[in-house]
Amino acid sequence: MKIALLGGTGPQGRGLALRWALAGVDVVVGSRQHEKGKRIADELAERLGDAPGKITGMSNAEAVAEAEEFVVLATPFAGHQPTIESLKGGLKGKVLIDVVVPLAEDNAKKFVAPPEGSATEQAQAILGDDTPVVGAIHNVSAHVLDHVDQQINCDVLICGNSKEAKDRATPLIEKLGVKVYNAGLAVSARAIEHMTAILIRLNSSKATSFKHAGIKVWAENEG
Ligand SMILES: NC(=O)c1ccc[n+]([C@@H]2O[C@H](COP(=O)([O-])OP(=O)(O)OC[C@H]3O[C@@H](n4cnc5c(N)ncnc54)[C@H](OP(=O)(O)O)[C@@H]3O)[C@@H](O)[C@H]2O)c1
Repeated sequence: MKIALLGGTGPQGRGLALRWALAGVDVVVGSRQHEKGKRIADELAERLGDAPGKITGMSNAEAVAEAEEFVVLATPFAGHQPTIESLKGGLKGKVLIDVVVPLAEDNAKKFVAPPEGSATEQAQAILGDDTPVVGAIHNVSAHVLDHVDQQINCDVLICGNSKEAKDRATPLIEKLGVKVYNAGLAVSARAIEHMTAILIRLNSSKATSFKHAGIKVWAENEG
């Protein structure tokens, strides 16, 4: 399987690329600049050595063209709408996995909802029915992803209006080594994305002794 990772040169994209390549997924790191995408991909590939999945890099548009089925979007929110609009044609028929969280540019502890309600809903509004959007991996920190020698000790909530797209995306996300829960329609992204801002607040609080918190669904064992 070959996937594209747009904005894949940032910490979140780099961590995802490493994890997926280790799980045997071929990853195309996308960038606004072809050369930067290639350089970061080469660095990641060198770090992994003989991983079962191959990491290559190019421009975002080229990466979308290379993707067989899934395109993962990991830009800051400032790049969310422009990136999707500029690549809309190429995304048609593929599944967009949206990792983007709308945070205030001057304050990462602040969730700033777009008019559509969330980044996931904004993406779906731009792309229309031809390209299903699955919101996912909002609450897993780049630091955790980067520590590839350690298991990811948190869960992933996914949401989106297409059950079929969520069912197709789930095995890919599970390859990161996480449990995936279907949290409902795209509207659920308002809560899931907002949770990232709350986790960042907890991470930076003097009252806590951790830095890279995620979420875990817990239930008393009834068995
Ligand atoms: N970092 C985390 O721990 C974390 C955790 C959960 C969710 N997220 C979410 O994941 C996304 C990526 O996070 P990140 O920390 O990796 O972000 P980042 O480093 O700020 O940006 C990622 C990449 O996006 C591209 N980019 C920057 N500004 C852009 C713009 N205006 N338009 C288009 N592309 C632009 C850049 O790549 P090029 O210059 O190569 O194009 C950059 O390397 C964010 O939405 C964030 O909220 C992050």
